[in-house]
Amino acid sequence: MIKVGIIGCGVIAPTHIEGYRLLPGVEVVHLSDLKPDRMAEKGDKYGIAKRSCDYRELLSDPEVQLVSVCTDHASHARIAADALESGKHVVCEKSLGRVQEDLDMMVAAAAKHPELVASGIFQHRFEARNIRMKKLISEGAFGRILMLGLYFRCLRANDYYLKDEWRGTREGEGGGILINQAIHYLDQLRFLFGNVTSVSARTANMTHQGVIDVEDTAVFTLAFEGGFCGTVAATSSSREPWNCSLFFDGDLAALNYVNETCEKISAADPAREEMIRRTLAGEREETGIAGKSYYGSGHAAQLADVVEAIREKRPCGVTFADAANTSSLVMAAYASAEADGAPVPVKNYR
Ligand SMILES: NC(=O)c1ccc[n+]([C@@H]2O[C@H](COP(=O)([O-])OP(=O)(O)OC[C@H]3O[C@@H](n4cnc5c(N)ncnc54)[C@H](O)[C@@H]3O)[C@@H](O)[C@H]2O)c1
Repeated sequence: MIKVGIIGCGVIAPTHIEGYRLLPGVEVVHLSDLKPDRMAEKGDKYGIAKRSCDYRELLSDPEVQLVSVCTDHASHARIAADALESGKHVVCEKSLGRVQEDLDMMVAAAAKHPELVASGIFQHRFEARNIRMKKLISEGAFGRILMLGLYFRCLRANDYYLKDEWRGTREGEGGGILINQAIHYLDQLRFLFGNVTSVSARTANMTHQGVIDVEDTAVFTLAFEGGFCGTVAATSSSREPWNCSLFFDGDLAALNYVNETCEKISAADPAREEMIRRTLAGEREETGIAGKSYYGSGHAAQLADVVEAIREKRPCGVTFADAANTSSLVMAAYASAEADGAPVPVKNYR
């Protein structure tokens, strides 16, 4: 039996608790939150008896082998590093860290404990359609990649940012649209197209003046290790509730992928076009666990990967170094925006 502790009992915690409950031989046994009411609500609902306001008490519970860090961004690094030092395997929610120093600390802590699994949540990598897309790209179905563009829009009104003290603050969240919502799609770009070497960014606060001290809008260019370039535009000021469009061109085929659906495939060879269409068709799979629809179904699969990695003593699918590289890309974009759009290299961890 693998016994789990959850640190942070807010919005995302039930997605973790219910994801673990789908796995045979796994039990969530201990909760921690600074706010006793949140801990009591989740503990009562899911029948989890052990509860500690101080997460260090959870980390000193010998029964707990694996910890999910579900707190705000600013606390991830300290808690994850303490958990690894306490001999616990760790799953940490995105963004792995709030600033570059957090990432340095977390990657170093994971490297110091190769016997422990340390995984950063990027659940969309575990969705079947994204896995099929990656296979198509890596097997050359689109040919040599020439360029790509990501256009992500959502609506986060003032009440969203005012809900919890950490949201929309440089201190608590580290940024706005990029580090919280768009980070999923930036990770998807890295998953599909590889690491980014440098970025040149502009950010703005278009509709949340006086409410947040971070960006609600960002536009930037990216240079990939593969030798091609891309653009990203993201905003939480849109009238679109949640919309992500990914466009890319290879020298054999081009794709418009809108809200995870193939809107258009263009290829000179009709058989290639049909093969891509067939491979990417199908409904998004559902697991029925708690969470908003745009969280997707990947949490359960990623938690299953972590548990299997522990049992089989193998690396997990998204290591801390890998997850850190997506956060690092966000941090390079912030540094570039501060420098008036000057290109900033991305620190890629190996
Ligand atoms: N993967 C996804 O799709 C997804 C979706 C939503 C949120 N998230 C991520 O999950 C994390 C949490 O987000 P949320 O929306 O659940 O936030 P939240 O504010 O609802 O919950 C965070 C909880 O952590 C607690 N906490 C903070 N510091 C703590 C500490 N030192 N010890 C114990 N508890 C502590 C807070 O009291 C709060 O209850 C963030 O990193 C967020 O980006 C991921």
